[in-house]
Amino acid sequence: MNPIPVEHTPHSRLSTIDFNNLGFGNHISDHMLVADYKDGKWQEPKIVPYGDLALSPAMLSLHYGQSIFEGMKAFKNKNEELVIFRPQRHHQRILKSMERMCMPPMSEEYFIHSLNAIIKVDEAWVPTSEGASLYLRPFVFATESKLGVKISDEYKFIILTSPVGPYFAKPVRVKVEDHFVRAAEGGTGFAKCAGNYGGAFYPTQLAKEQGFDQVLWTDARDHQYIDESGAMNVMFVLNGKLITPQLTSAILDGITRNSLLSLAGKLSIPVEERKVSVAEIKEGFEKGLLTEAFGVGTAAVVSTIAAINIAGQEFTLPAVDTNSIQLRLKKKLEDIRHGYEPDEFGWVYKIPN
Ligand code: PLP
Ligand code: COI
Repeated sequence: MNPIPVEHTPHSRLSTIDFNNLGFGNHISDHMLVADYKDGKWQEPKIVPYGDLALSPAMLSLHYGQSIFEGMKAFKNKNEELVIFRPQRHHQRILKSMERMCMPPMSEEYFIHSLNAIIKVDEAWVPTSEGASLYLRPFVFATESKLGVKISDEYKFIILTSPVGPYFAKPVRVKVEDHFVRAAEGGTGFAKCAGNYGGAFYPTQLAKEQGFDQVLWTDARDHQYIDESGAMNVMFVLNGKLITPQLTSAILDGITRNSLLSLAGKLSIPVEERKVSVAEIKEGFEKGLLTEAFGVGTAAVVSTIAAINIAGQEFTLPAVDTNSIQLRLKKKLEDIRHGYEPDEFGWVYKIPN
C-alpha cells in the first residue's frame, strides 16, 4: 500500500501529559488517521493533527446509529519494539460489526497499514510504565447527509490513540441485572456498535447510584444466565474450574476472553465454556465453591470482581493472591505482550520499521 501522508501538528501536547497518572481514555495523542468511504470504495487514508471535524448534522449515523468501533492495544516490548496485540483478530471482528450494521468492509491490509502508520507517527505517546499501553480506537460511522431512513453510502474511518493505564482503579462490585436488557439473541450484542453502549447507560447509571461499578448482564428472555459485563466478558472459578459463558449472538466475542482461554489450556487449568446460570453462581457462593470472579477485556485486561449482588443479596469474593487463576493468567498475557514469554500463538504483531 502507498505510504500514508502525514500533516504534523505544530503544537504537540505530549509534554502536558502525566504518564504516571494516565487513567483511561483521558488523553488523545497528537494525531489521528482519517479515511473516507465514497464512490463505492475506501479512499486513501491521511494522518492529520487530532482535532474537530466538520460534519453534516443530517449525517445518518447521528440519526439511525450506523456507528461501530474497535478497542485494541499497542505496547513497547522489552526490546523497545512497537507491537500490537492480535490486530488480525480485531480486523475479523470489525468485519463482523460492519456486516451486521450494513457497512462496507475494509481489507486486513488497509486496516493494519492504517494502524501501523498512526502508531508510528505518535510513537512517543506509547507509555512504557507497567500496566500502561497505547489504546487504539478505530471507528467507522455513516456520514451521508440524508433524513430518509436508509443505509448510508458514505462513511468515515478514524483511528484515535490514547495512552492509558488501568481501566478500573480497584476491584469492582457488580450487580446481576434482572430487569433491563443489554442485548437479545438475534440483535447486535455480538457487534461492537455504538448503540449497545448507549442503551446500557441508563441501567448502568441506576446500578452506580446503588453503589455498584458495573452491571452483570443476563439473558434477555429469562435473566437466568450470565452474558457479560458492560465493557468486559466475565469468568468465574467454580470448584477449581475456569468457567465462562459460551458465546451467543448477544455476547461480544472478546479477544481477551479468547486469549485467556488458550492460556488457561497452557497452564493446565480446566476450562468450561457453557451456559452459566445465576443460580449456580449463588449456590457456588453459599457452598464456598466460587473462589474467583473477574472481568476480561482490552481496556479492563483482567479486572477482579470483589462482590456480586444477586437479587439484592450481596456476595463477597475472597481476596486475590498471586496464585489465583486470574493473576496467573494476567501475568502470562502481559509477559507475552511484552516479550518476556514466547509468543506461541502468534498474537503479537511487530510493527515494521
Ligand atoms: N464485552 C464488551 C461489551 C466490551 O465492550 C468489551 C471490550 O472490548 C469486551 C467484552 C471485551 O472484548 P475484548 O477482549 O475484545 O476487548
Ligand atoms: C475495550 O475494552 O476496548 C472496550 O471497548 C471497552 C470500553 C472502553 C468501551
